[in-house]
Amino acid sequence: MTLLSIQSLNVNYGYIQALRDVALHLDAGETVAAVGANGAGKSTLLRAVIGAVTPVAGVISFAGKDIGTLSAPQRVAEGIAMVPEGRQVFVSLTVEENLLVGMSARRDRDNHREDIDRIYERFPNLAERRHFEARVLSGGEQQMLAIGRALMARPRLLLLDEPSLGLSPAYVNRVYALLEDLQRQGMSMLLVEQNVTLALKLSNRAYVLELGRVALSGKSSDLMQSQRLREAYLGRET
Ligand SMILES: Nc1ncnc2c1ncn2[C@@H]1O[C@H](COP(=O)(O)OP(=O)(O)O)[C@@H](O)[C@H]1O
Ligand SMILES: [Mg+2]
Repeated sequence: MTLLSIQSLNVNYGYIQALRDVALHLDAGETVAAVGANGAGKSTLLRAVIGAVTPVAGVISFAGKDIGTLSAPQRVAEGIAMVPEGRQVFVSLTVEENLLVGMSARRDRDNHREDIDRIYERFPNLAERRHFEARVLSGGEQQMLAIGRALMARPRLLLLDEPSLGLSPAYVNRVYALLEDLQRQGMSMLLVEQNVTLALKLSNRAYVLELGRVALSGKSSDLMQSQRLREAYLGRET
């Protein structure tokens, strides 16, 4: 079943064309990556899906429904949650208050205690610090909190904007182990990364964005072998 379908998506910031005729689809249960250099339009793609920017053209459908006219909170209620670039946890709220914010757009708020406890089980570090302000957390713990907050919305689709950015290698591994876990449990994910190797390892399929256009797309395992992609991105990392 197609969960997310994007057609002819164009987004501008004033005179800057950030996305040009982007088409993308994601089946239920799939992990799809959008990779590309800084400024390629990756964050803009996620912002358009969650409704934080208004496209000048294009159609975005979720579970068969055109969501183009819905507000961001309405899209969250439909089952889309985003882990934004740079985490953006509320530093002056406690860990637990941050988690509660994550369910504010949810229609059904029953059993939220259960959901919070399930997140604490996943993230013992957060459980220990539940009554501390989020500012005391390390960058890696804040990333875990941002993911936990998104999960509180009980999403059917998780949007992740550079979850590895700025984290220590140990935390990058922990974050990706968690994403693998979610994947095994059937979560659908649209993952944006500058770290092409990480993103291609986790994802089933991927799109390569260059200057707002889809330059390449295909199975992640095939793209990993692609000469063009290796020259453009992987050379620098290996
Ligand atoms: N709020 C904004 N105002 C003006 N230009 C922006 C804004 N956000 C992003 N851009 C521009 O849009 C393009 C795509 O940016 P972005 O989606 O953030 O790329 P990425 O996430 O791949 O680094 C870039 O040229 C960037 O400078
Ligand atoms: Mg970005």
